[in-house]
Amino acid sequence: MSQPNDKWSSEAYSAAASFVPKLTTTVLSYLAPKPTDRILDIGCGDGPLTAQIAASLPQGHIFGLDASASFIETAQEKHSSRNCTFKLQDCRRISECAEAVNGSWDKVFSNAALHWILREPSTRDAVFEDVHSALKPGGVFVFEMGGKGNVEAVHATILSVLTANGIPLSTARESCPWFFPSDVWMTQQLQKSGFEVEKCELEYRPTKCTAKSADGSGGLEGWVKLMGAEMLNVVEESKRGNIVKQVCDIMETVVTREEDGSQFLNYVRLRAVARKV
Ligand code: BEZ
Repeated sequence: MSQPNDKWSSEAYSAAASFVPKLTTTVLSYLAPKPTDRILDIGCGDGPLTAQIAASLPQGHIFGLDASASFIETAQEKHSSRNCTFKLQDCRRISECAEAVNGSWDKVFSNAALHWILREPSTRDAVFEDVHSALKPGGVFVFEMGGKGNVEAVHATILSVLTANGIPLSTARESCPWFFPSDVWMTQQLQKSGFEVEKCELEYRPTKCTAKSADGSGGLEGWVKLMGAEMLNVVEESKRGNIVKQVCDIMETVVTREEDGSQFLNYVRLRAVARKV
């Protein structure tokens, strides 16, 4: 999921975003795993969802790729089995992994990872071409990622706080590690890459932050620190805690529900099913 400079750990991810591998009912219904399916999982993280899918593949196989050494180590320790394997691989360059792009996969799956993987405009086409090469003729690419408008309040607040603290807007923007495309952009990209688009939809899905923790690894604060790490890194380390506090102070009234004090981020999911033609 991450690029080099691994910021991920299962503990930090679980404290800040344990909901991500859980809110997957719709995308899994689109994947509809068959017992013999061979599935390639792009940006599998530390593997709980990959292992869940593996349980539906008694005669099949799922192969998870992720760029985080920490995540892959955890996935291999906790979730490897006869039909569920993992490999460390930067998914901007899937073609480096010969087993992945050999045209033997019935399905390519991805959940909550493509918004990191597709960040760089110059590497986007290759990702779609590699997924196409990975699939058997008639195979499907099924995925969910952040779509246009995803977490826009916290995104805009981080940009504003950075600029208010002297960072040029262009620097703040370039540091953003995410790409949240619209359904129109994605449909065009998939078609250009040789897919027939069966579904491509956006869903607005407000999502409750994890509980606040005393050590600052959970709640909105934990989310900003982990998910926004690349943006915070444009200021010197000694100032980052204060930047996070300013972001959370501004966000407070926007994201907090009066009835119980819970905090929600406005996630927008982009889901697609696209067939190799
Ligand atoms: C997402 O899954 O939509 C997401 C995760 C981390 C940062 C931003 C968005």
